[in-house]
Amino acid sequence: MREPVAFFKQTLKSFRTTGAIAPSSPFLGRAIVKLLPKKGYFPKHFRVLEVGPGTGPFTAALAKRMNGQGQLDLWEINPDFVAHLRRRIESDAAFAPMRKHIQLHQGDIRELPAKPTFDAIVSGLPFNNFSAEEVRGFLEHFRSLLKPGGTLSYFEYVAIRRLQAPFVGKERRTRLNGVSAVVEAFSRAHQVKSIIVPINLPPARVRHLCFEPAGR
Ligand SMILES: C[S@@+](CC[C@H](N)C(=O)[O-])C[C@H]1O[C@@H](n2cnc3c(N)ncnc32)[C@H](O)[C@@H]1O
Repeated sequence: MREPVAFFKQTLKSFRTTGAIAPSSPFLGRAIVKLLPKKGYFPKHFRVLEVGPGTGPFTAALAKRMNGQGQLDLWEINPDFVAHLRRRIESDAAFAPMRKHIQLHQGDIRELPAKPTFDAIVSGLPFNNFSAEEVRGFLEHFRSLLKPGGTLSYFEYVAIRRLQAPFVGKERRTRLNGVSAVVEAFSRAHQVKSIIVPINLPPARVRHLCFEPAGR
């Protein structure tokens, strides 16, 4: 129960950046790590970046999959989540094999200099809470942080923009339509897999994108 309570406190305190009412389910966690190498097959220097880990449901799935191989960097903007996650990583036995392989950073991911450093990015960012330009900025930034052929995995709540549209004001509707357009354009160009996860609050869709090496 500790994770949902800690999460909901931040929903009330910082809704714009938290963007949800509950942490993601273990089912969503499993779906979001699906494109990564299988357990036991991570190359030694394989680097994964997780953006917006919150209380750590995706971090737990990553720790299980990576199981002491590769390097995992976590970037979280909210200091309360960072403190929670630090305690969890230190005390939860499930993180033991990965402890020496995890670096936890506090800050806005946009502060990380654009350099192709990572083989894979897993993002928990709440795109629907940002403007279309911000979402485009995040996606372009992720692309710039990935090595050629790197993958980006993120999630969004199923049909939430379509469901909200009739009930929100014009300004919010225009913003949500703009976010849809950006997400759809990136998906058309780069999506390699999409997975619906019904057991999550609310149900979610994972999008896996691959940025092919230039010239392919
Ligand atoms: C929807 S929550 C997801 C948390 C967790 N991954 C999960 O699935 O339960 C969004 C997370 O992104 C973080 N976040 C929002 N904007 C961020 C930014 N610019 N840089 C880093 N983290 C950010 C929030 O603080 C929060 O932890």
